[in-house]
Amino acid sequence: AAVGGIALSAQASSGASSSDSLKFDPDGFSKLTTTITDTEGTEHEVTYHFWKAITYVADPVDATYQSLIVSAPVEIDGTTVDPTHAPILLANSIGGYMPASVADATEVGGGGSAAGGTPPSGAAPSGAAPSSSSSAASNANGNTNATGGATSSNQLLALAAGYVVIEPGARGRTLKNSDGEYYGTAPAAIVDLKAAVRYIRANKGLIPGDVERIVSAGTSAGGALSSLLGASGDSPIYDRYLKELGAADASDAIFAVGAWCPITDLEHADGAYEWNWGTNDLATGKQVDQSVSKDLKAQFAEYQAGLKLRGLNRFGPLTARNYDDYLVEQYLQPSATEYLAALSDSDRETYLAKNTFITWSGGRATFSWDDFLTHVGARKKDTPAFDAFDLSAGENNEFGAGTNETRHFTAYGAKNDSTGLGTKRVAADIPEKLNLMNPMFHLVEKVNDRRSKHWWIRLGTSDSDTSHVISANLAARLDNLGDDVNHLYYWDQGHGANTDPGDFITWIATVTG
Ligand code: DHB
Repeated sequence: AAVGGIALSAQASSGASSSDSLKFDPDGFSKLTTTITDTEGTEHEVTYHFWKAITYVADPVDATYQSLIVSAPVEIDGTTVDPTHAPILLANSIGGYMPASVADATEVGGGGSAAGGTPPSGAAPSGAAPSSSSSAASNANGNTNATGGATSSNQLLALAAGYVVIEPGARGRTLKNSDGEYYGTAPAAIVDLKAAVRYIRANKGLIPGDVERIVSAGTSAGGALSSLLGASGDSPIYDRYLKELGAADASDAIFAVGAWCPITDLEHADGAYEWNWGTNDLATGKQVDQSVSKDLKAQFAEYQAGLKLRGLNRFGPLTARNYDDYLVEQYLQPSATEYLAALSDSDRETYLAKNTFITWSGGRATFSWDDFLTHVGARKKDTPAFDAFDLSAGENNEFGAGTNETRHFTAYGAKNDSTGLGTKRVAADIPEKLNLMNPMFHLVEKVNDRRSKHWWIRLGTSDSDTSHVISANLAARLDNLGDDVNHLYYWDQGHGANTDPGDFITWIATVTG
């Protein structure tokens, strides 16, 4: 006891009051073995050390969500591997800005959004997702949402590649305490992810993996948060929130970002959505209110002009007038070209016969923006897509606060409120909350030098959960700042697709190597 007492006082005098509860136990693992099938169909037997849920803050609001799991490979196909200096894949399974928990996870791939968020359509690319014989398609929480599935592919392949996989839970928008207060709305999820990063970095030398080589990954809302985590590294605007939780005293900057269909830049997403999908009908065949759509489109034009972005590959200034050409030339035609080039001659002929809007010549696909829009067909969301007049969008809940489940977060949404709210303005705290939630704030309004400099961004061409502009603007801004950006669109894929997870794993080796 005397020795323990000395050790304790020595730690207390080092200044960090939370150091005891936030110390990673290197010996607290169980040893598991799983078979992981890679993207070529080859099976790998992977033995790994697994740490079940560890709370990553000293003063959790809800440890069910503010916990993480760690998986570190020690033997792959009979060969011993040392994960001590391996890159760390920080894979979140957040979907729909919902709560995500790893509290009951018993193996790698154990994350998942409570209640599943929005069920993505066309999300599971056939044959592309690797499988693990012990975790299969569903995760340890019994969730089978495709957002988790896409991320899970990354986790399994990363483990089989010898990387450390850390999966954080995070609070989400629907969480409510016994006083009826919402405690998982903005900025809870990003604050939690930052606290998880701080925990990892504070445990350098104890936790397996290279804490200077953390690569975040996430899909949809999880992709948005992954981008935000990368853009906002060490930003002081989160400090008071992190302090409240008793987050570890360490950097929250991360090395690289993987983001699939990031649903981000929320306060500009309504305008970008109408610019993109404004003339597409809903699945019911109904057209959205064209006067609302036009208002929002005009807002987008103004926003886009103010960004002063240049397109990739010397495209020049990106505006509402030329963004269609940009998307077609930079992303959509190359995406279709790659898809078609990979088909057998007869499959390609069949596809082209069904899709006569595509001209296939000299091994390249060309088509017009308008024909592309017709090809995608029904838009997923009514207008406005994100700040709904009746407060029915998930994002209205994300910007809820206190006992208010839902709130408006744009001037236009508030002005046109249809729920009978007395005020037609956004609440006073909304501007700050928007900054806390938007990677573009850290890249445009403030240029954060502590941001990640390596970015993997992916989006299905048929994904109408948000505008194609959102990812493209993020990529263009990062490119214009000089960062390393790898951004592709997956042809004919819907929301949540991840059809090249093996390439992502290889990319991690390249950028961290
Ligand atoms: C997700 C999907 C959406 O359409 C949205 O608005 C927010 C999040 C998701 O799948 O995470």
